[in-house]
Amino acid sequence: MQLQYLDKQDPQIAEAIRHELKRQQNVIELIPSENFVSLAVLEALGSVLTNKYSEGYPGNRYYGGTENVDVVENLAIERAKQLFGSEHVNVQPLSGAPANIAVYLALLNPGDTILGMDLSHGGHLTHGHPVTHMAKIFNFIRYKTELDTGLIDYENLRQMALEHKPKLILVGYSAYSREIDYEKIKNIADEVGALTMADIAHIAGLIAAGVMKNPVRLFDVVTTTTHKTLRGPRGGMIMCKAKHATLIDKSVFPGFQGGPHEHNIAAKAVAFGEALKPEFKEYTAQILKNTKALEATLKNHGFKICFGQSDNHLLLIDVTPKNITGKEAQNLLDTVNITCNKNMIPNDPRKPMDPSGIRVGTPAMTTRGFKEADFAEVGELIAAAIDNKDNPAGLEEVKKRALTLTAKYPLYPELNNL
Ligand SMILES: Cc1ncc(COP(=O)(O)O)c(C=O)c1O
Repeated sequence: MQLQYLDKQDPQIAEAIRHELKRQQNVIELIPSENFVSLAVLEALGSVLTNKYSEGYPGNRYYGGTENVDVVENLAIERAKQLFGSEHVNVQPLSGAPANIAVYLALLNPGDTILGMDLSHGGHLTHGHPVTHMAKIFNFIRYKTELDTGLIDYENLRQMALEHKPKLILVGYSAYSREIDYEKIKNIADEVGALTMADIAHIAGLIAAGVMKNPVRLFDVVTTTTHKTLRGPRGGMIMCKAKHATLIDKSVFPGFQGGPHEHNIAAKAVAFGEALKPEFKEYTAQILKNTKALEATLKNHGFKICFGQSDNHLLLIDVTPKNITGKEAQNLLDTVNITCNKNMIPNDPRKPMDPSGIRVGTPAMTTRGFKEADFAEVGELIAAAIDNKDNPAGLEEVKKRALTLTAKYPLYPELNNL
């Protein structure tokens, strides 16, 4: 793979791509929503499929010449069904946020109540944060986790459901590290006559591989992104029971989106094919082991892990006991080639732009080959960086150790001559 045409046509973009490749190669990437796709996925993304309009669905399009994109989209749908055991799949949502919005608009009416998790307890913006447009259309109310156990406060959730009679109960989170009791949620939803939706964006790969619980057969609708633990291209997907299929499909197109991005759908199909292989199960099992290794090291160094522990691929860490804020920690770690993101912690007294926590995850570096010992070293590096925050020589030493680790597991060596 080379940039020979870009070099001639648009050297500034070519240069930015090369710099980004180098950045990705040289940092310990801990943002839990990021991953490194395969070269096969990259090829599909950069293919001529980007030229094709194909409004509609396979076999029923508004454009001619769609015989090849029909093959691509049907393969994506079939593989997704096989991966998750879903009755119906729509692979056209352009990303996770549009997938969620398409579901709300498909199944609810303006003014209806949705019960979702509070953002500071791990929920996502698209689950009703007041800054989003959806909060102007629907009435979102928010449940929380129990501070002592780190588990969802199911009893409080039930009381809120009984009181507010939501049309939809929503689970699935961005910064929550514990397993979800989908059956308990379904029982509460049945009690109040609500629909159930799980947004498994973060943990889709772990669910597909069977290392975390799968809500697909139990819940009415399940949405996901395809670019996190599932290790596909940036994109979204909706899975639902057959009885909701027509409403969901009509909501995505023509209700909300225009022509599907078939190059992206092809890349999704490739990634789903990869996730069906036995190696993907090993990959996801390693993600869980690596998270535990990182958790143990950080706990040894006195870090406060929110929700008590991690059952998945991420850890939310309250860094304030180390006399540093989330924003300062993120910036400091950037200087030693460790990338993570600042994040609110449950009931955070601080502001979102400078919260109390950082969020770290293991999927990306597990793709590069990191094992438990490597993640124990990552934990040591995080601790050493924060301990040496006012000591430039100490930080230089941490950066050297980070570069030793990244050099041990090369990323995209095939692209080195780009
Ligand atoms: C739980 C959850 N849902 C939805 C999204 C939105 O996905 P996107 O950024 O692809 O729109 C995210 C993104 O991080 C997420 O974590």
